Amino acid sequence: MMLDPKDFIEEAISKIKEQIGDEKAIIALSGGVDSSVCSVLVQEAIGDNLIAIFVDHGLLREGEVEEVTNTFKDRLNFNYVDASDEFLDALEGVEDPEEKRKIIGKVFIDVFEREAAKTDAKYLVQGTIAPDWIESEGKIKSHHNLALPSGMVLEVVEPIRDLYKDEVREIGLELDLPEKVVFRQPFPGPGLGVRVIGPLTRENLAICRKANKIVADEIEAAGIDKDVWQYFAVLTDSKVTGVKGDQRDFGYLVVVRIVNSVDAMTAYVPELPWEVIRKISQRITSEVSEVTHVALSISDKPPSTIEFA
Ligand code: XMP
Repeated sequence: MMLDPKDFIEEAISKIKEQIGDEKAIIALSGGVDSSVCSVLVQEAIGDNLIAIFVDHGLLREGEVEEVTNTFKDRLNFNYVDASDEFLDALEGVEDPEEKRKIIGKVFIDVFEREAAKTDAKYLVQGTIAPDWIESEGKIKSHHNLALPSGMVLEVVEPIRDLYKDEVREIGLELDLPEKVVFRQPFPGPGLGVRVIGPLTRENLAICRKANKIVADEIEAAGIDKDVWQYFAVLTDSKVTGVKGDQRDFGYLVVVRIVNSVDAMTAYVPELPWEVIRKISQRITSEVSEVTHVALSISDKPPSTIEFA
């Protein structure tokens, strides 16, 4: 950490005040650590002139809407936008992973732009952190404008662009954000959309969401959530024969993936307590009726990626 968290916060607040003044700003709040820290920091500087927009794309984890809402509704000028039908209608039956990402990205811009147009915001706050722009070869300038497809131009403000993840977490703790937010596992922007292989439908998403909840509950109950980087379940498009009760069953294969990493560029599968893995498998096959088989992913990155899509 280059600066003491208190000093960083004080300096950031005065810079933000100077830059934004009495104008309004808008931020897309996902509930992840970067956008959360950024929102709270800017709120401290300009108060309710920061309009935080939390877009529900229908691809969130179980309980996530309630968690994010409860954390921020009294602390920010918090606006929840339920756009789940718009996203899920556009995604219905789409199989190709890149196509899914493209659709999610496009609908997100449509929704966000519509919300931005309802305000008279002049600034767009983004929770960009150092690895985000260093990885894109430093091509993102610190001061730039963003022209939305409608022609609306917002000036971009990136208060935490020089920080690394561990520093963002320290700032989050100093800002009194709950530990649950500060140490939340990374979750991809396209959400569960990249954890359903094959056709994305509301039914498949529901299966994927239930399996993810079981993985999260068991990893957290075992107290190993802070020891691993990410833990989740992927619904594959493979169907396999199983037996439930005394009946043959033909259901889905779900893959459980638990990895360790420092920066998501590389990752490895750590040794895991076997009883936790067995419990996850047993719970998924007994509680999610569409699933007959659970496999554990044992591939590192590289050559695999962390997500399956
Ligand atoms: P991969 O799968 O490329 O993931 O090894 C590296 C890290 O990035 C997350 N991830 C994403 N995050 N939008 C995001 O905001 C995305 O489209 C996306 N895809 C992957 C992934 O969860 C992991 O932490």
